Parts: sequence; C-alpha cells; structure tokens
Amino acid sequence: MDPDVYEPVADDLTHQEPAISTRYLKKTFFDAFGQAEVKAVDGVSLDIYEGEVFCLLGHNGAGKTTMIGMLTGLLEITEGDAFICGHNVKTQMRAIRKILGVCPQHDVLWPRLTCQEHLELFALLKGVPRARVREEAKKTLTAVGLEEKEHDFPSHMSGGQKRKLSLGIALIGGSKVMFLDEPTSGMDPESRRATWNLIEHEKKNRAIVLTTHFMDEADILGDRIAIMSTGDVRCCGSPLFLKQKFGVGYTFVVSLEAGIKPAVIRPDIDAIVLRSVRGASLFSIAGGEIAYRLPFAEANSFPDMFEALDAQRKRLRITGYGVSVTTLEEVFMKIGTDFGDLHQNQSSNKSQPKMDATDIAVVSQAQHDKDNNDGKGDDGDDTKDDGDVKEDANEKDFFNRHHHNGDDEDKENLANIFAQPTFRLQQQQELSVLLTHTWAILYKRFWWSVRDFRAMFFVIILPCLLVALNFGLQNLGLAIDYPNLVLNVDQWLV
Ligand SMILES: Nc1ncnc2c1ncn2[C@@H]1O[C@H](COP(=O)(O)OP(=O)(O)OP(=O)(O)O)[C@@H](O)[C@H]1O
Ligand SMILES: [Mg+2]
Repeated sequence: MDPDVYEPVADDLTHQEPAISTRYLKKTFFDAFGQAEVKAVDGVSLDIYEGEVFCLLGHNGAGKTTMIGMLTGLLEITEGDAFICGHNVKTQMRAIRKILGVCPQHDVLWPRLTCQEHLELFALLKGVPRARVREEAKKTLTAVGLEEKEHDFPSHMSGGQKRKLSLGIALIGGSKVMFLDEPTSGMDPESRRATWNLIEHEKKNRAIVLTTHFMDEADILGDRIAIMSTGDVRCCGSPLFLKQKFGVGYTFVVSLEAGIKPAVIRPDIDAIVLRSVRGASLFSIAGGEIAYRLPFAEANSFPDMFEALDAQRKRLRITGYGVSVTTLEEVFMKIGTDFGDLHQNQSSNKSQPKMDATDIAVVSQAQHDKDNNDGKGDDGDDTKDDGDVKEDANEKDFFNRHHHNGDDEDKENLANIFAQPTFRLQQQQELSVLLTHTWAILYKRFWWSVRDFRAMFFVIILPCLLVALNFGLQNLGLAIDYPNLVLNVDQWLV
C-alpha cells in the first residue's frame, strides 16, 4: 500500500484481528443483457478494527452504499473476499447476522409496527433473551431520544425521527459490527450532536462503519477515514494524516478593529505576511478579516511573521490573528478534483459562472462595505479613499468578467443561470386535460410493463407458452379420447 495515501494502522490495533476485512472487493452491476453497466466498487481492500469509528466518505455515487450492501449480505459480491469477525460474508452470513447492526441509507420500516415493536422485533432476531427484550427496547428508545414516540407508527414520525429509529435498530442487541449509512441525514443540529455522543460512547467493543456527507461529523467521530471515489478508496488514515497529506496548507486569519476597512490596511499586512512566509497567498477578505493560505513546509517562518505583526499591531489596527489547519472539507474537495469527480459534477452545470478565490474575496469585501455603508449611513466622509477606489475597480472587474457587453448579454446570462421556459403555458380545456392525463398514464404503464421483465414474463409470455403447450399436446394426441356423453333429462323423469 502506498504510504503516501494510506496511513499505517496504529500498533495498538494491529495486534488484534480486524473486525471487518475486505480484499479486492468488487461489485459490478449488469444490465438486462448481462453486459457490465456500472463498476460501483472496484477492488477495495480495507481492515477495520474493534473500538474504532471508520468513516467512509465520497461523492454521490462513489460506491459507499454498495460497499455496505455487499458487507451486509444485501448485494452479491462480484469478485474479491470479505470477512466479518472471521466469518466469510459469502458463505457464513447466517452467523454474521447475529452480530450485525445496520442503519440503511433509506429507512426500511413497517407501517403497521410501532417504534417499540420494531425494536423488540430486531432484539428478538438478534438473539436477545425474551425476558430482556422489552427492557432493551426501552433503553434504546431513550438512547436515541424517541421515548415519546414509543407507541407511534412510522407514518406518524418525521424524517429525522425515522432515522433515529433506524439507528436504534442498528444499535439494539449489542451488535459487534455496525454499518451506519448516513445516520444523521435529516436530523436537527441538537439531535446530530446527541447522535455523535451516542456513537462515540457505543464504539467501545464494536467496530462502526459510518458514511456521511457532513465533514465536521467525520472529523469529530472518525478514528480513521477512507475517501472513496469512483468505486475505489483513494486515501485512508486519521483526519490529521489526511489533512497533512492532502491539505492545502494552513489558513492564517488576521482580524481588524471594528470599522476598519481591510482594503486600506491590507497592503501593509500583505507586505509582512507575504515577505515573511514563502509561498503565502491571499485567500479571502470577509468582514473585518483577511485570510491567507500558508504552506505546511513554511511553519518555521511563522514566529518571525508573528513578531513582525505584533510589533506593528497598533498601527495596523489588528485585534488578533490565528492559524488553523486545513479542514476535512478542503481535503475532500481536493481528492474530488484530483480524481475528476468535481469536474464531472461541475461540467453538468456549465451555465453557473465559476468564482475563484479572488472573486469570493472581492464579493465578500463588496458586500461588507455595502453593509457598512447601509448600516452607518454617512460617517461624514463623502470622498472615497484609495481603498474604496480599488475595491470599486475590483468589483467592476468582477462584474465585467461575468456580465460583460451590455444589457442583452446580461439578460442572456441571467437566462442561463435561472433557466427560463421558452414557451408560454396555455389555458387548456377540461376534455383536453383529461385526454392528456389518460395518455400520460397509459404511456407510464407501457414503459413500466416493458421494463419490468419478470411481470411481463408471468403475465404475458408464460400464459402464451402454456396455451401453446396445451395445443401441442392435443396435436400429439396424448389426450384421452372419452366417448361422447349424451345429455338428456331421462334421469329426472319418473
Ligand atoms: N441496483 C443498481 N443497478 C445499477 N447501478 C447501481 C445500482 N445501485 C447503485 N448503482 C450505481 O453504483 C454506483 C454507486 O452507488 P452507491 O449507492 O453505492 O453510491 P453512494 O456512494 O452510496 O452515493 P450517495 O452518497 O449518493 O449515497 C452509482 O453509480 C450508482 O448509480
Ligand atoms: Mg449511499
């Protein structure tokens, strides 16, 4: 494994057997004619250990759910091997189910069972002794924060509450291995935090695989993180390792006193930061803050920069500054860009004008100044200073780049951004609406039937085959030729 993208597993984990182990795991979806359609998972090898939360991240369609589907026995493995607590997923699924907890991406709940009944059912299926089932269900309801929904059916629950119930189903019965596919999607911030605490608490003695699109969640919960892209794991390690390997550097933010226009002070601060740290670049100006990107390799020169800033703190009207390391979100974006996912997604959205970092800085600054001016009315200063002139120029530059050459093009750009219908909706007669609806329903039914090959086979093809077989048998003369039965009323006549 390439140590540049895979962090070696910590020693305290390697002495134990992995709870989940996959080797060159592949899943290919085939079309109706047996042709390979999508390589959803393309040779994933991972070891996941007890006591850790392992986060699987990736863009939409990266293969996370397919991976979980294979490991939980929902999808057949096309190639490769997978083991859970030493049991082979291909052949020993019966044993695995007893130690498995799954919170699927889409809730699979029964409309006629209450919350409590769902939990009791799964507790029984996982082998909880009958006498303890009720108590376990109650405990789980409290843990996921659904006490007041105990006797409610899923149809009477919100999306977030259904996710909590699915999480409870995964947790109940002390499952040794848990797969949580986006468990917090649709939860409010308070519930998300409660769920984080719950997962953090429950990870002892279990291996938890978690997928999420919330980077803060992965950063906080994930002991190790794997980022998938187009079916394969592109990097794997602790959040810190990923940030160091794929980070774009440190973010250095300088905060200015209230009411100070950053554009006025910026050249002086630029002079210190850009001169002291080789490779530093301006990242954004937002509100009263100026942000720079600083390369990881230049950390040694930071003390000089801090000293220089401290020395001129008063003159430059600086209230404070801080350095933070790259966020996981930036790492995710970088991996996506490196492997072309973001390009794909962006190319499908060509009409959107792209903004680069400088644009963001300029827009933020323009907005900030506008807010300042709106808020303060006139501060007795009618004439614009140098900084304002520069910002105006920048602002014009931004709009020129995106809305150049007059009104017509502006309109055209707007039409591209907010795609407008090119037709006018017509007033329709009732009869015409009825006919259109009938046609639409028939059209939908036709394609539904054509594409549901199994239904088509049993409803149309199989009956035809049976009728043909019947005629064939008759022609072969295999049917017994009974003598004609004469029908008359003699037997009822006395
Ligand atoms: N039953 C299926 N038949 C054909 N292709 C499928 C099927 N299920 C998934 N796919 C394809 O497999 C790929 C991986 O899908 P998967 O659901 O694993 O993505 P994901 O990483 O979970 O995405 P998301 O973050 O949106 O949940 C996608 O390209 C998807 O279109
Ligand atoms: Mg998914």
